[in-house]
Amino acid sequence: MSHIKNYIEANKQRFLDELFELLRFPSVSADPKYKNDVLKTADYIAEKLKTAGANNVEICPTAGNPIVYGEKIIDPTKPTVLVYGHYDVQPPEPLELWHTPPFEPTVRDGKIFARGACDDKGQMYMHVKAFEVMQQTDSLPCNIKFMIEGEEEVGSENLDVFVKANKEKLAADIILISDTAMISLETPSLETGLRGLSYLEVEVVGPNRDLHSGVYGGAVANPATILAKMIASLHDENNHITIPGFYDDVVELSEEEREALNQAPFDENEYKEDLGVEELWGEKGYTSIERTGIRPTLEVNGIWGGYIGEGAKTVLPSKASAKISMRLVPNQQSAVITNLFQKHFERIAPKYVKVKVTPHHGGEPAVTPTDGIAYQAAEKAIEEAFGKAPIPCRGGGSIPIVALFEKELGLKTVLMGFGLDSDNLHSPNEKYDIANYFKGIETIPLFHKYFAELSK
Ligand code: BES
Ligand code: MN
Ligand code: MN
Repeated sequence: MSHIKNYIEANKQRFLDELFELLRFPSVSADPKYKNDVLKTADYIAEKLKTAGANNVEICPTAGNPIVYGEKIIDPTKPTVLVYGHYDVQPPEPLELWHTPPFEPTVRDGKIFARGACDDKGQMYMHVKAFEVMQQTDSLPCNIKFMIEGEEEVGSENLDVFVKANKEKLAADIILISDTAMISLETPSLETGLRGLSYLEVEVVGPNRDLHSGVYGGAVANPATILAKMIASLHDENNHITIPGFYDDVVELSEEEREALNQAPFDENEYKEDLGVEELWGEKGYTSIERTGIRPTLEVNGIWGGYIGEGAKTVLPSKASAKISMRLVPNQQSAVITNLFQKHFERIAPKYVKVKVTPHHGGEPAVTPTDGIAYQAAEKAIEEAFGKAPIPCRGGGSIPIVALFEKELGLKTVLMGFGLDSDNLHSPNEKYDIANYFKGIETIPLFHKYFAELSK
């Protein structure tokens, strides 16, 4: 494998330069004003796949952002790995909190700061470069297909359509994704599950117009106050979620499974210090690892209403809103939970207001098997590259298409992520360590090698 290491070493600067170029495209999928940049990003990736040696590279149009496809079939009798990633990114706001501009990648302290550096351009591009490495060193041991989408951050609705319509094209033996985190380079880990998601928006409407808060205040319910109370009532004193039926389908882990999960290193003080909080919060009876891994949650992602401009304005707002998401665990179903929430929220609304609940996207939770050859291949690859076997962990985030791949294509997934929880995903100053980028490029060819070997 030393020729692989040599090739990476000799091309280090170019591998970084190309990633930087990719990071300069503001491919924000949530905001239509970036549409053109999104298209340019897809072009760039298609170009790079071609240069790296992929065949049948296509920019597949969808009703939304295009999907970049490419493949290298070396021998139809050999196993096929389908690599999934996404080139879209979250909006960069609030811009004033970035130390350097989000779309001007900057290196500080060995880390690349840019929106998408880790989620997922940096991690996705490792696969493109690892493919180039395998091509150039004549070491591609299996067939490889790439499917890089541009709508992961907004719910992958068009990927859903694409997958259902292209089962033949996407036929493979395993799906490989680097879009999750590991504990650290010193303590590598592999995520073995992802949470699902139900995302909704709620609006509470009171009087038919904004009112003078002195003239009317006291006699008319304030929708902002009512919304705050309704939201507060969604957790009880033990921080359990109060929506009736919410936990009905939650799979409880056995004591042994919970014990294994809690073996992962977790330094509570370091965690608190990093986040600047005095105490942690969460559902009674569960550890922090469990609260983010195997338990469902309900969060307010945004809340607004009334006057939020400079200075003070005395006003009783006519309405108030919030964006609410729930993270789901096996065997909760997104549509069922969305429905339970909607019914409950409408039921708890007092007579003084009307509520409107609008569902956004959702996604199903997923667990990835740890007993198959693909997981074994990832384990061996990491052990060889890191000098240490990875610890299996449950991830708290969501990649809704993982459940979809299993349902539509009958394929399992390996989540071989190289990010860190502290990479500021979706936050200002997102970063990706250069060391993780290259460790990933080094580990990926080993995955293909062991997957091909173990498939025999
Ligand atoms: N890459 C993340 C998911 C993730 C991050 C999984 C860290 C595990 C560890 C992905 O891009 C993401 O942000 N997904 C969204 C869901 C989507 C439907 C908007 C999420 O988790 O909020
Ligand atoms: Mn991602
Ligand atoms: Mn994301």
